[in-house]
Amino acid sequence: REEKLFTYKGIAYPTTVCSPEIFKALESFKARSDDVILAGYPKSGTNWVGHILTDLVTTTAKNDGDETNGSNDEQQGEFPYLEIGDVDKYQRMEKMPSRRVIFTHLIPPNLPVSVFKNKAKVLLLIRNPKDVATSFYHFSNSLSPLPSYETFDEFFTAFMTGQMPWGSYFDYIFEWNKHAADENVMTITYEELKENRASGVKRIAEFFDLPLTEEEIQGVVKRSSFQAMKDNSQESHGAFGQTLFRKGDVSDWKNLFNEDQNQEMDKTFEERLAGSQLGAKLKYDTYCK
Ligand code: A3P
Repeated sequence: REEKLFTYKGIAYPTTVCSPEIFKALESFKARSDDVILAGYPKSGTNWVGHILTDLVTTTAKNDGDETNGSNDEQQGEFPYLEIGDVDKYQRMEKMPSRRVIFTHLIPPNLPVSVFKNKAKVLLLIRNPKDVATSFYHFSNSLSPLPSYETFDEFFTAFMTGQMPWGSYFDYIFEWNKHAADENVMTITYEELKENRASGVKRIAEFFDLPLTEEEIQGVVKRSSFQAMKDNSQESHGAFGQTLFRKGDVSDWKNLFNEDQNQEMDKTFEERLAGSQLGAKLKYDTYCK
């Protein structure tokens, strides 16, 4: 397990996609006020909301007659995750036209200072911890770059102690909670987006000042359904797509957690997050009980 992860500033990352060198290079990254940044703990629905953002930006750019804009993967050849890539990535990103769409799993203290200093807008995506753990467990056991686990119990211990790629879920929410009231940060939950995708997509477009017509919004909504994204996954993510678009449901944790694990997580949530702004947004009693 250890060889698949390395530690940087006390947090574990997968060796295959991150490196201490890239974290060093990242310090020089210059955020722009018109960057479109998506932050989320792994398995919170990053690819889903990232797809929505890219679609919104690309549609707006096309309306402006700019076919090359909408800085997504295919069009700009840059992997959208901020902390994944090679050391020259940030130099190339400087040449990318606005608006750049950037995803990250990092907590605020580990982001380049320019993100907050230059007032880049950040969409913070959060998902209830029981479903995140469930999704993470299945993902870890189907994709080799991440450590795998013999049993869910073994995974659960790692999750609860934060010995995970990108660190502890609880620390993640705790750290982002300090920015939850920032003017440039908007929070959305996986669950509310599942409940009403159209309303979520509209709020996201407004937050980033992306002026789409009602019809265009409906197009983005349609293209971001679980089924549409799963059907397109071979094209968008290759063989990896089958792993990524697993179930896309709320409450799948009920198939995995035992009573002891339930109680332990309830206790930790209560102690670490229940009284916080983001803790309330997660609607723990609705989705985790
Ligand atoms: P499950 O494993 O519970 O199915 P990430 O992109 O951050 O790795 O998150 C992956 C999770 O988002 C997976 O959850 C995946 O199925 C879900 N997901 C991806 N696309 C989705 C969509 N269009 N609608 C709902 N959930 C989606």
